[in-house]
Amino acid sequence: MLEFAESIARRSGELLLERLSHLRTINTKTNDRDLVTDADRASEHWLVEAIRDQYPDHNILGEEGTGDQTLLQQPGYTWVIDPLDGTVNYAHNLPIFCVSVGLLQDGQPLLGVVYIPRLDELFSAQVGQGATCNGKTIHVSDTALLSQAVLATGFPYDKHESPRNNLENFSVFTQKVRGIRRLGAAAVDLCFVAAGRLDGYWEEKLHPWDMAAGIVIVQEAGGVVSNYYGQPIRPEEDHVIAAGPDLHPTMQQLLEPYATKHHLARQDSTSSS
Ligand code: IPD
Ligand code: CA
Ligand code: CA
Repeated sequence: MLEFAESIARRSGELLLERLSHLRTINTKTNDRDLVTDADRASEHWLVEAIRDQYPDHNILGEEGTGDQTLLQQPGYTWVIDPLDGTVNYAHNLPIFCVSVGLLQDGQPLLGVVYIPRLDELFSAQVGQGATCNGKTIHVSDTALLSQAVLATGFPYDKHESPRNNLENFSVFTQKVRGIRRLGAAAVDLCFVAAGRLDGYWEEKLHPWDMAAGIVIVQEAGGVVSNYYGQPIRPEEDHVIAAGPDLHPTMQQLLEPYATKHHLARQDSTSSS
């Protein structure tokens, strides 16, 4: 199934590239920041057809309307796809965007593939088999000190209206680190942590399709992926920290007070991870 995921992620990424040179239809979703283009929809349509053709019994959850989030807890296989992660970048012709294809088995991430067409980089991982970029093994960084770390984060589409807009955290981290980047595609952020290009990443108000593939890629590259309380991440959670094992505890300690203050959801002690 990993090979299949790699082939469809690559092909739909190529479709995104082909469409870049055409005039694009850009519509807003929840507000002026939250965009959807004809390319998002075409990519999802193509991915869904390809998966249905190959695995007719599998469930599919896609950002642009395929399935619904109850599928995340279903037994069996569920594909979780972001047909275009980094839509704002894509619409502005910035080169950081990707296709993210994750597969859950009984609700647990099993494999993940992220293809970044403008870099021609294919990140891929399956539980227990390590993580690769274009076939080469990748590993998270061993940076332990924030003062030597380059981090990435993102800001939610409702940042203009909501106090849960991550600006407090940005301010806390920016005075402690070597640098912070805002790349604009969560799946790319996760892959760059996996490859050791970024030392850590945090963000909130994410969706399962932003993270399903990247979680496996970071974990298989030796990284830790948790929620802001330090609990092992689940794809349905909306706050995430991904980092190398030496840096993760420090990031988590700085983010937990924010999580408590803003009442971010915590996993209860009876639920399994
Ligand atoms: C968005 C990107 C962005 C993140 C947003 C996501 P989209 O996904 O990953 O980096 O900050 O929270 O929704 O809308 O481009 O698929
Ligand atoms: Ca996304
Ligand atoms: Ca998307």
